[in-house]
Amino acid sequence: MMIDRFHRKHDYLRISLTDRCNLRCTYCMPDEDFHFMDRSHLMQAHEIESLAKSFVENGVTKIRLTGGEPLARPDFADILQRLSTLGTQLTITTNAVLLHRYVDVLQRAGVQQLNISLDTLSADKFMLLTRRDKFHQTKENIQTALHKGFEVKINMVVMRGINDHEVLDFIAWTKHEKIEVRFIEFMPFDGNHWESEKVVTRKALLDVIQTVHHVVPLENAPHATSTAFKVPGFTGSFAIISTMSHPFCGDCNRMRLTADGKMKNCLFSKDEVDLLTALRNGLPITPLIHQSIANKAEKLGGQFGNTSFEHLKSTEIINRSMISIGG
Ligand code: GTP
Ligand code: 5AD
Ligand code: SF4
Repeated sequence: MMIDRFHRKHDYLRISLTDRCNLRCTYCMPDEDFHFMDRSHLMQAHEIESLAKSFVENGVTKIRLTGGEPLARPDFADILQRLSTLGTQLTITTNAVLLHRYVDVLQRAGVQQLNISLDTLSADKFMLLTRRDKFHQTKENIQTALHKGFEVKINMVVMRGINDHEVLDFIAWTKHEKIEVRFIEFMPFDGNHWESEKVVTRKALLDVIQTVHHVVPLENAPHATSTAFKVPGFTGSFAIISTMSHPFCGDCNRMRLTADGKMKNCLFSKDEVDLLTALRNGLPITPLIHQSIANKAEKLGGQFGNTSFEHLKSTEIINRSMISIGG
């Protein structure tokens, strides 16, 4: 059991499979001088399996695969198959560009739920945001996932002046489609053009939505990052992930493993414990996991030192880029 100083039980592991991606989203990766990890530093399939096993032995019951783009990893099917034998819930966060190739592989491994990133419903805007012409493929693959019976959550990072005018279009999408759209407050990471003025808070989002729709709150899943709502009569629902204005650290059950095998006890923590090197040197992993959990801070979401996000400058942020953490 991995319990920290604040009595939080950690049973959810997010594993980044690669820092590479087939899109180039401006809010996720630095646009200049970005160096992908050297391949020899990446965890190999058997190393991922072995490290994940150590986490499972210590109480992990849910594993989410992230990236970069997890489906961009050539040996994704092998990794998924290995992890599916560990007896945890297995899920993935993807941009869906390659999803059509992996639907069967995912279903065979027992994956039932997909979190899919899509920040705009306009093909032109998609091109601007991602610098790749993959809008139609992404939309088509989302439909395929729904037809195949996956439970789908859509992640939309809301950025003022960039895509915030589309919030009501996303709500309209939930009218006939069984999706949960999650509006995410824009978070600062290395090189991602973050400015506090670009953050659209939960309150601001609800204000905009409620000018048009009556909304009712839904019950939230345990340890959820989001608060969920519904427009009565709509097939789908929506939720808001409010890391910046209302951090949810008190209920945190998450740990992260970067693609180069470093354990992070928090999305915003600078401390990293190198599990991969330990594994390669034949050292025991469990004590290192416990060491990382023991050092976990009470709350880092939405606050940076003593500065609340409204007063934060992007130059004060020292963390990996999102693409090399995995979200
Ligand atoms: P569920 O397993 O469905 O709860 O997924 P999730 O919302 O945790 O994961 P997803 O990968 O879809 O991420 C959605 C957003 O939540 C992204 O912006 C993540 O960076 C953010 N997020 C995920 N986990 C955490 C966390 O532990 N802390 C904070 N602050 N944000 C997180
Ligand atoms: N702020 C908030 N969410 C982000 N994501 C990527 N970068 C950011 C950011 N700067 C989201 C992506 C993806 C998830 C893993 O993290 O939309 O769905
Ligand atoms: Fe957990 Fe850190 Fe996210 Fe807070 S910011 S919820 S402590 S991972």
